[in-house]
Amino acid sequence: MFYPLIRNILFGFDAEAVHYFAMNSFKKGCAIKPVKKLLQSAYQYNSPLLQKNVFGLPFKNPVGLGAGFDKNALFLDELEVLGFGFVEIGTVTPKPQAGNDKPRLFRLKEDKALINRMGFNNDGVEIIAERLRKRQSSIVNRQSPIRKTSPALMTDDSLTNDQKMIIGGNIGKNKVTPNEDAWKDYEICFNGLFDCVDYFVVNVSSPNTPGLRELQEKDSLRKILSQLQNINYGKPFKKPLLLKIAPDLTPEQLDDIISLAFEVKLDGLVATNTTINRQQLSAAGKAKSDDIGAGGLSGRPLKERATEVVQYLANGTKGQIPIIASGGIFTGADAQEKLAVGASLVQVWTGFIYEGPAIVKKINQVLAGRV
Ligand SMILES: Cc1cc2nc3c(=O)[nH]c(=O)nc-3n(C[C@H](O)[C@H](O)[C@H](O)COP(=O)(O)O)c2cc1C
Repeated sequence: MFYPLIRNILFGFDAEAVHYFAMNSFKKGCAIKPVKKLLQSAYQYNSPLLQKNVFGLPFKNPVGLGAGFDKNALFLDELEVLGFGFVEIGTVTPKPQAGNDKPRLFRLKEDKALINRMGFNNDGVEIIAERLRKRQSSIVNRQSPIRKTSPALMTDDSLTNDQKMIIGGNIGKNKVTPNEDAWKDYEICFNGLFDCVDYFVVNVSSPNTPGLRELQEKDSLRKILSQLQNINYGKPFKKPLLLKIAPDLTPEQLDDIISLAFEVKLDGLVATNTTINRQQLSAAGKAKSDDIGAGGLSGRPLKERATEVVQYLANGTKGQIPIIASGGIFTGADAQEKLAVGASLVQVWTGFIYEGPAIVKKINQVLAGRV
């Protein structure tokens, strides 16, 4: 109700700085138990109608937060308060890295969009894995395809396993790692996070690490994904392995992804990452984007293309490989659109910035048929 007012104030400040300010303030609020309880009852919406089992994991609802929002796994408890069914941390790289020079995150208000060129700024896999281990309540040893839960790790007795927020680990390579050695970086992150996350996403689709998107080419991808699956299948219980792709791929490239997904037995696909295409921007947005320069565009202008890609993948895989839809989801209707063309789950990011913390509840209410 008050969010448009708060948003106007927040939008008066630098986008990246205000992101951390807002999340740290929210964290402080959540540290006070009665405040946390109040926020939970205001923002969470639970219904058995929303529960879903996807790639062997029990999602309490299908609305997640996309990678890049909580890169360092700093705010998971607070995001759980907001009712997310799942949160994807990262992109995590083997070594910590600072990312590109600031400013590197920009708002295009007239288009309800963002442009970012963060460049995988993150604390590195060791620190992030340690942080996740400390947050024991999130480490539920869910296994795929047969799930086993280790009760010792579940700290909140009031929560059943089906009400827990699922944690995905989105992994990438360091900027300095040449593409031919990229598979080693993915392997380090996969091993480092294996016991701390519920599923993995291989990110080869960010436009902000030079050359990264070339890894979407079939042979490079085969090397990375088959290497990870070899490790995965060698474990007593495997973790679901997904691939996140760009919206800017051609139909031929998407066909390659589909055949590779079957070949390496991927558990799912995430479609899509941000776009380098600027065609959907308004004239004002286009002018602003020219000033901003390079980066990945997200939000409303990405919505249609992301839906198209989800539909193409769902058709091409005959619905046999679950898809997480990401791109331009702001409302319940946007989420329904993605689910209708074949997505199993949805993620918000830019929509969260523009619509505010009630976005998860609002979408879930629509999906449960309550509004
Ligand atoms: C500031 C920012 C940082 C992001 N960082 C990552 C990232 O590190 N890894 C990744 O896979 N996607 C990243 N993304 C992409 C989002 O996860 C999402 O796929 C994309 O923004 C499209 O969804 P949206 O239109 O709802 O924002 C980032 C997006 C934004 C806006």
